[in-house]
Amino acid sequence: MARILTGIQSSGKTGEIHLGNILGAIEPGIELSKDPNNEAYFFIADLHSLTTVKDANIRKMNVHAVAAAWIAFGFDTDKNVFYKQSDIPEVCELTWYLSCFTPYPMLANAHSFKDKSAQLADVNAGLFTYPVLMAADILLYDANLVPVGKDQRQHLEMTRDIAGSFNHQIGELLVIPEAQISERVMTIPGTDGRKMSKSYDNFINIFLPDKKLRKVIMSIETDSTPLEEPKDTSTCNVFALYELLADEDQTNQMRANYAGGNYGYGHAKQALFELIISKYESQRKKYWELMENPESIDQMLATGAVKARKTALQVLSRIKAQLGY
Ligand code: ADP
Ligand code: TRP
Repeated sequence: MARILTGIQSSGKTGEIHLGNILGAIEPGIELSKDPNNEAYFFIADLHSLTTVKDANIRKMNVHAVAAAWIAFGFDTDKNVFYKQSDIPEVCELTWYLSCFTPYPMLANAHSFKDKSAQLADVNAGLFTYPVLMAADILLYDANLVPVGKDQRQHLEMTRDIAGSFNHQIGELLVIPEAQISERVMTIPGTDGRKMSKSYDNFINIFLPDKKLRKVIMSIETDSTPLEEPKDTSTCNVFALYELLADEDQTNQMRANYAGGNYGYGHAKQALFELIISKYESQRKKYWELMENPESIDQMLATGAVKARKTALQVLSRIKAQLGY
């Protein structure tokens, strides 16, 4: 039985979940969690989000939006453990213990800290100790496997180093986790052809109401090939997105439309819009049901927190005893 654990950021300004998040993180995560040999601990990293988001209402909305998206896509919160980081205050306690086993230069040289401190006006100590909180997230639950994107590779190495240093000095108490880095997950392009990302404002939030969603899809950048002429599928953002979501017949049909001419980008965008609406009909409905009833989300997260806390308390008491507390 492998315990897989991953943290899901709730960092956006408006709680938006986009197609890149869905195809790159939510669907693969749910697949992993279905394996009967795995036990999945997935949590919303709402303590990490305080490094950048200071507004309480925005944070709450983000937590609800992220949780609603996971649940709408079928994450089984009964089989697995789904919780929010801040419901388990023991993680802050462990962060302190671990920070006393974390070499200062390791944090000072971390890529993500250097990047963020170069970009952000608010360079707070939370950004600096971010990797220690992340190590505590993982080590508090004896996690074996941590699926993350490439950008988190160094954070996972730091977790392993911190755990190794602790085990070396105090005794073999911590499970050293393996990272599972999804090199294979392709990068989903945004409306301007760059990587779809909240930071580039080029994302498609599939949960938007119809009219707004259509407007975003109509804004996808295309070239100026006239309506009557055949169009190149290999350079078209609309086609790239359509192909990601469509089945083979639909894709072949679209390819033929592009080759045939007299088929405009407006037609292709309309087809993409309709495809998204029909493909994600049930997820969109579920998402809005949940968002209109946020207490139901809070209830699910509270139930998850009880399960998570049970494990956390066991692991923490083992650590505290050995440290003499
Ligand atoms: P953003 O870049 O919009 O801020 P995040 O960094 O919050 O997105 O990403 C959350 C998850 O979604 C990560 O696991 C990340 O790998 C995945 N993800 C985000 N954007 C994409 C994309 N364009 N293609 C594939 N996966 C993505
Ligand atoms: N830092 C991760 C990110 O930005 C989120 C995260 C927090 C996380 N704690 C974690 C991921 C623990 C895996 C394990 O995506």
